[in-house]
Amino acid sequence: MSDYVVQPSREAQGSIRVPGDKSISHRTLMLGSIAEGVTEARGFLESEDCLATMAAMRALGVKIERSGDQEIRVHGVGLRGLKPATHPLDLGNSGTAMRLMTGLLSGQSFATELVGDSSLMKRPMERAAAPLRLMGAQIETLGGKPPVKISPASDLRGILYELPVASAQVKSSVLLAGLYAKGPTEVIEPAVTRDHTERMLVGFGCSVDAADGRIRLTPPTRLEACSLEVPGDFSSSAFFLIAGSISQGGGLTIKGVGINPTRTGLLDILALMGADLRVVNHRSAGAEPVADIEVRPAKLRGIHIPEHLVPLAIDEFPALFIAAACADGETVVTGAEELRVKESDRIAVMARGLEAMGVRCEVLPDGMRIQGCSQSAVFGGGEIDSDGDHRIAMSFAVASLRSAGPIRIKDVANVATSFPGFVKTARAIGLNVAELA
Ligand code: S3P
Repeated sequence: MSDYVVQPSREAQGSIRVPGDKSISHRTLMLGSIAEGVTEARGFLESEDCLATMAAMRALGVKIERSGDQEIRVHGVGLRGLKPATHPLDLGNSGTAMRLMTGLLSGQSFATELVGDSSLMKRPMERAAAPLRLMGAQIETLGGKPPVKISPASDLRGILYELPVASAQVKSSVLLAGLYAKGPTEVIEPAVTRDHTERMLVGFGCSVDAADGRIRLTPPTRLEACSLEVPGDFSSSAFFLIAGSISQGGGLTIKGVGINPTRTGLLDILALMGADLRVVNHRSAGAEPVADIEVRPAKLRGIHIPEHLVPLAIDEFPALFIAAACADGETVVTGAEELRVKESDRIAVMARGLEAMGVRCEVLPDGMRIQGCSQSAVFGGGEIDSDGDHRIAMSFAVASLRSAGPIRIKDVANVATSFPGFVKTARAIGLNVAELA
């Protein structure tokens, strides 16, 4: 188990890129595998989560080449061309991989079992299994958790499904099963969630109509391979947006970041807190908007985060809690109970870490109340446990910009699930991070 030791530093400065988008990289592998022809992707995220999906697709008989730096070629086998795996598919730490694969595999003519690491084996899977069963899928979970056992179903039928939780993973799982259903599949979202699946399905030639929170997919006869460029992951850029905001000098530019509006709730939240951000050089990478983001230090103020922004920033809360600790006054997060079922219980684990470093906070059932302070040393330093959660580990590394003493962050190996090279990039902007084995 490895740890970070982060010495305090004052300024974040420089121009960086972050690795490719995790959500889009997973979907590229899955959709490329069931398309006809060779799908080529540049900027693919070579992280443990996406490599677990790659290994799973290979085990299902798909040839995937890694033909260079972050470039992949997926030799699609067509909608009906996947082959049974000879062993359970191990999806590591990735909830996205498990929930999306459950949808994709529920329409196949063979059985599959899905397993994962100790964190994934504790995460709720019924949210994906329940709507798939309504479509006719044969899925078993163990008390709602993995292993997920999928048996062949004779025919899936399209359904109209109203999502009980705002979850892009559940939405995507149902849409992927809908590719194999008789009749159209329609999903109604309670709040806007990331729409990469919808955008990408259209890019692969499938008919998907989305309007007013309703997404309707008409099952295609085939998907067509395409070539795509994966933008930098906004969620990985979040650590540097916070670093740039709480830094005591300097300024950062993060280049080539995906700014799909279903992902950028953090920009709106930081703007309400008084951050100094500029989104420049707008362009597009296929169906996804991309830009550079400039951030300068700012005097942040505490706010009550509008609940409609929560699903649009769902992965950014660990980093945002660090910003809140550095803001003048109180920040209140509510309507964020989903944080409790991520790679860790992000409300409980972040609260423990903040308290260990001297920040006053109150855990709420669906969020947190944080008493911020705008002094230069907000955090006392000390030791915190990330509970094996990549985003919690990276968030506390950023806290070193406002810490009185060194921070030891335990159990950081899982940073490799989403952000290989984090230490190098963090050091490049002036954070003094060392990884100890
Ligand atoms: C993801 C959806 C979100 C997010 C996760 C990636 C996706 O999960 O937290 O990191 O790629 O669809 P939920 O759908 O559970 O909110």
